[in-house]
Amino acid sequence: MTRVFSGVKPTGHLTLGNYLGAMQRWAAADQHQADALFCVVDLHALTVDHDPARVRRLSRQAATLLLASGLDPELCTVFVQSHVDEHARLSYVLECVATDGEMRRMIQYKEKAARERVRGGSVRLSLLTYPVLMAADILAYGADQVPVGEDQRQHVELARDLAVRFNQRYGHAFVVPRATAPQVAARVMNLQDPASKMGKSDDSGPGIVYLLDEPDVVRKKVMRAVTDSGREVVYDRDARPGLANLLEILAACTGGNPSELSGAYTSYGALKKDTAEAVVELLRPVQDRHRELCADPGYVEGVLRDGARKARAMARPTVDAAYRAIGLLPAGAGAEVPVTV
Ligand code: TRP
Repeated sequence: MTRVFSGVKPTGHLTLGNYLGAMQRWAAADQHQADALFCVVDLHALTVDHDPARVRRLSRQAATLLLASGLDPELCTVFVQSHVDEHARLSYVLECVATDGEMRRMIQYKEKAARERVRGGSVRLSLLTYPVLMAADILAYGADQVPVGEDQRQHVELARDLAVRFNQRYGHAFVVPRATAPQVAARVMNLQDPASKMGKSDDSGPGIVYLLDEPDVVRKKVMRAVTDSGREVVYDRDARPGLANLLEILAACTGGNPSELSGAYTSYGALKKDTAEAVVELLRPVQDRHRELCADPGYVEGVLRDGARKARAMARPTVDAAYRAIGLLPAGAGAEVPVTV
């Protein structure tokens, strides 16, 4: 059976972009078709300046939203990265297979490090080694498919390279994964800046619809979306990106087609109004379920505990095999039993 692994990084509140770009499909398709793991990758949130309490809060929230969006713990494994030691354990071994040149060539590292330096800050070493940890996330589970967006493809390529190199040098230990382009409902762009994607980490609120935004906040953000000059409603991604974004969001929410929908509108106002209502209705069941889950924190905790246990059992043999293959001496039977003095 295909094994799928994907992760969300708790560095910001999850957005409509995360939902339509990934989460919706995880719930609707991936968890049914494959042996799937979905992970809140909290260790990755420590690679840039962070506030400990916020990371903790966002991690719990992300896990709750994954469940609220329809991931079913009976069908897939939902867990938190730091609850499973194998990620960090394997990451170190992979650092001994990767080269520093390889790390410094990663586009995301170069961009983020440059931004950090402009702000006068220092760059954490973990930002450089982040792609190795991500490779460990994937390889520990023998995942063959990794549904990620364009910006993460280079990291999955690295995971492939490291798997192949390790297998050649030390004997077969890893499945060689590949990035799969998730068939997304829509690539949602920032409502105030339709040239950049609606990411969770850039905090410019007014262009970003968060999954937990109140209906009135959603309406206000959509109504204030920048549109292009011009009057007729046409679907043209290059010439009219603001309008195209609204049409795509509406199409994704209602199951329609953006260029057909454009024919149904004669004014921007009417399009915005319908888009706003469609988003409110899309988010309503997710928000309702989120509220129910928040009222029962013991349930979410239990799901994460079981998820971590399942994940650990899957990852452990693979990581142990890699440790042996690379030359580390096995601890021997019984070594894991705590010694009482
Ligand atoms: N780096 C990914 C992101 O920023 C998150 C991530 C971490 C991930 N580990 C992963 C995604 C493993 C897929 C598989 O979005």
